[in-house]
Parts: sequence; structure tokens; C-alpha cells
Amino acid sequence: MEGKVYTGEDYKTKFNPRDYLKTYYAFDSGTVAENEILKFLLNNLFETFSPGGVGGDILIDVGTGPTIYQLLSACEAFREIIVSDYLELNLREADKWLKKEPGAYDWSPAVQYVCELEGDRSKWQEKEARLQRTVTRLLTCDVNQPRPLGSAQVPAVDCVLTLLALECACRDVDAYQAAIRSLVGLLKPGGHLVTSVALHLQNYMVGHSKFFGLPLEKETVEKALQEAGCQVLKSQYSPINYSEAYCINEGLYFVVARKDPGA
Ligand SMILES: C[S@@+](CC[C@H](N)C(=O)[O-])C[C@H]1O[C@@H](n2cnc3c(N)ncnc32)[C@H](O)[C@@H]1O
Repeated sequence: MEGKVYTGEDYKTKFNPRDYLKTYYAFDSGTVAENEILKFLLNNLFETFSPGGVGGDILIDVGTGPTIYQLLSACEAFREIIVSDYLELNLREADKWLKKEPGAYDWSPAVQYVCELEGDRSKWQEKEARLQRTVTRLLTCDVNQPRPLGSAQVPAVDCVLTLLALECACRDVDAYQAAIRSLVGLLKPGGHLVTSVALHLQNYMVGHSKFFGLPLEKETVEKALQEAGCQVLKSQYSPINYSEAYCINEGLYFVVARKDPGA
């Protein structure tokens, strides 16, 4: 992987949502590593948001990208979901699916997979409809700002979800810790932060564009959560790596943490 490495504002001109989806979320027809990673995430999200698990009134997904897979289990556990990303273009792509517009990405293999986990694969269209009505707002955000949602009026939420985003957005560990602190600041006391990190990330490709990745270790992720006032309730490591041609990482980490109820 040689050539210029994009970061920060470069996202606005170099990140192509359709290339991203095609490379990492082809699922049924994609390469094995990317499929296994998606299954790892979907399985963990299913467990996390199952009845008796994490749930509540509002969930906000930060760094949503053009994807909706991460909300398929959560939409059963929350009354309202807000999605947010740095890029309008990504929100537009997600919105196409939410509004069932022509040319929207086909998530049905992932939706069917999650329905199978829930016990009835045949209910996938009902789940699509449920998610489409549960997402109420799409907001731009910047995790490198102390107020990631800017001037948007959002009440304190029960859950912040952020998958595979902070290690792409933050230039160093200090910025990562600050981003975690700001995201914990969006939570009600006792609320949950659910995150997944591509560990030891170096770079990742979107089409022909190479993007920066911050190499993080499990311990750095846990320390950032603890220093932000959270207790780590569950962590799951997987040694799976992305296909080397697309992304250099060493394993994945899925973490559920809870903000101090007295905070
Ligand atoms: C690798 S993608 C992850 C997308 C999605 N969460 C997923 O699981 O596939 C990284 C995302 O981080 C977003 N991003 C980059 N810089 C950001 C920033 N400063 N604030 C918020 N999001 C940012 C990008 O627009 C992109 O959608």
C-alpha cells in the first residue's frame, strides 16, 4: 500500500461511499475475511441488544458511514435512533436505504442473517421496515470537536454506538481519548457506549484512495473508556484481519461499557 494517505478534510473529496460498501460489505458475494468480520460484528451486536441487554429510549450512532448493518439489532431495543457522520455524502447514502429509494444499497443478506440470529429469517422485510421508521434524524458530526454534534439539539442518550470510526478519525491517542470523552458526554448517567475497533490499524483503502488509520491496542481502548468514567462490561477480541489488499489491521475488538450511574 503506497501513495498519499488521506485524513481529516480529505474525507470530503476522497471517500467514495459506494466504493466503501462494495469493498467491505458485499457479504454474500464478498471475500471471506470481510464476511467474517461482518458476522463478528453482527453476532456481538445481536448479543448486546437482545432482550435484557442494552436498550432504552435513544441511541446515537457516531461515524455511521454509508452503512446500516450496525442498527439491525439495536432497532429492536430503542425507541429512536439518530445516525451521524462527518460526511453528508455518507448520510445521503444511508438515507437512500432508509427511504427505499431506487439505487439504494442492498442490505438484505445482512438483514436476513440478523433475522436468523433472532430466530426467524423470513421476517427480514419487517425488520427493514422497523429500522426505516426507527431512524428519526441524520446529523453531521465531528468527533474531533468537544461538541461532536455541533449546535444540534439532542437530549442525553441511553446509548452511543461507534463502530470502526474513531481509529479512522483521530490522529493520535490523545485525540482518541478526547473523542471518547466527548462521546461519553452525550450519554445519560448509566448509559452505554458500544464500540468496535480495528486494532493496530495502519491504512485502509476506499477505491484507489488510501486512508489513515490510528494503530490502537486493546488496553488503549479500555483505558480511554475508564478514564472517561466508564466501566467496561464486556469485551470480545477476534484475531480476524481484513484482506491485506484493502486494509492493514491486527484483529478486532468489540466493547460494551457503561457510564458511571452517579456521573
Ligand atoms: C471506516 S468508516 C466506518 C463506517 C461505519 N461505522 C462502519 O462500521 O462501516 C469510518 C467513518 O468515519 C467517518 N469519519 C471520519 N472522520 C470523522 C470525524 N472527524 N468525525 C466523525 N466521523 C468521521 C467517515 O466519514 C467514515 O464514515
